[in-house]
Amino acid sequence: MLEQIYRWGSLVFIEIEGGKSASGDLEIQGSKNAALPIIAAAILTKEPVVLAHCPKIQDVYAMIAMLRSIGVNVWWDEDALVIHAEHIRCCKVTEPMAGEIRASVLFLGALLGRCGQAGICMPGGCSIGARPIDFHMSAFSEMGVSVSVTEEEIWCEATTSGAQRVRLPYPSVGATENVILYAVLGSGRIIVDNVAKEPEIQELCRFLRSMGARIRGEGTGRIEIIGVRELHSTVYQLPADRIVFLTYAAVVAATCGNVFLQTYGQCFPAECMYLEKIGCRLRTSSEGIWIWRKDELRSIPYVRTGPYPRFPTDAQSLFLALMTRGNGKSTIEESVFENRFLVVSQLQKMGAEVEVEGQCAYVQGVERLRGASVVATDLRSGAALMVAGTMAEGTTVIDKCHFILRGYEWPVECLQRLGLGARYRCE
Ligand code: UD1
Repeated sequence: MLEQIYRWGSLVFIEIEGGKSASGDLEIQGSKNAALPIIAAAILTKEPVVLAHCPKIQDVYAMIAMLRSIGVNVWWDEDALVIHAEHIRCCKVTEPMAGEIRASVLFLGALLGRCGQAGICMPGGCSIGARPIDFHMSAFSEMGVSVSVTEEEIWCEATTSGAQRVRLPYPSVGATENVILYAVLGSGRIIVDNVAKEPEIQELCRFLRSMGARIRGEGTGRIEIIGVRELHSTVYQLPADRIVFLTYAAVVAATCGNVFLQTYGQCFPAECMYLEKIGCRLRTSSEGIWIWRKDELRSIPYVRTGPYPRFPTDAQSLFLALMTRGNGKSTIEESVFENRFLVVSQLQKMGAEVEVEGQCAYVQGVERLRGASVVATDLRSGAALMVAGTMAEGTTVIDKCHFILRGYEWPVECLQRLGLGARYRCE
């Protein structure tokens, strides 16, 4: 069923029947944003790499198609993805999927590291802003890579040994990952400043260290990498996805639910703090997190998204959806992407009171939302509409749900497992 939905994604709708309360338990899938750079990193060794708890989502399938297009063997062993890049047939990713997802840009760093040259067609991604790649390219140039960019493609070649210190103009997640992917193989030592501190960066570094890489400083603003001659095979378990955790936690908050979310020991303190602020109660165990809400859904007077450890931009539309039923006024400022309030017009169709001015959304909580026909415009707006649907009266029909399937494994089945009314509808 799921593969069919992926194929016919844009013809499938998700229908949500509001008014029920979430209960039971749910395993949180492996992290998308950890998986994508790690999948690219797997080509840095000729030996097989096993990624356990790898999410079966559209973005991962796109990365697999790109790996296969350059001659890498990839297969599933239950929930583990096995990648064996014994030979790379070609250092240019021409697979059309590369133009559709942003993470394809990570093949530049990985292919440069492995082959000394790399090409991809212009990367895509969700329509949440301009999303240029100038920080990636300027860091590569400083590291001695010649870069040529046309409207259709990017071509990079390692030429000289390059600078030993690089400073990113902004702590971009993707640029940090690309620099790491390129620098781990080789004979040089490099210090990179103003790097992103996201948990997914830390995960990439832990993964590379498990293959023999020499990296330190991840999670701080400075990373030091000492190149090694080769990397070796590893078996690595991907962590639970913190944004998927927040999505189902938001469903609990939305429906006055009581649910155990299995997170494989992760406790997501930064994310949980925001859930507590809006009136959720949480209890952490060694396996996961109990979450429930009995009290009012509290509005957040002001929150601004920013690079980690600030409020994650990927959770912005989820909280925006929740705040439409909050007990007062909320202001949400988006500081990372310039076009991330597309969900607002859809929430308005459901009766939400939200005004957008520049990079701020002003939300006035209302008594009720009503089900409506809405359209997902990107991955997280789609997830936010699912959350809104669970707290609306009547039926919400979400169109373009292929965006949701880019990052969520079995979203309808997960909602059903929590006792909520959800189903796919094909037309
Ligand atoms: C990653 C995440 C995405 C998350 C984002 C911010 C993955 C696969 N995706 O995306 O889910 O929302 O981090 O936490 O991990 N920018 C430039 N030039 C560049 C690079 C970035 O101007 O060369 C800008 C972007 O347009 C954006 C901001 O910097 O406004 C942050 O982008 P970045 O941190 O690079 O995000 P991604 O790696 O694309």
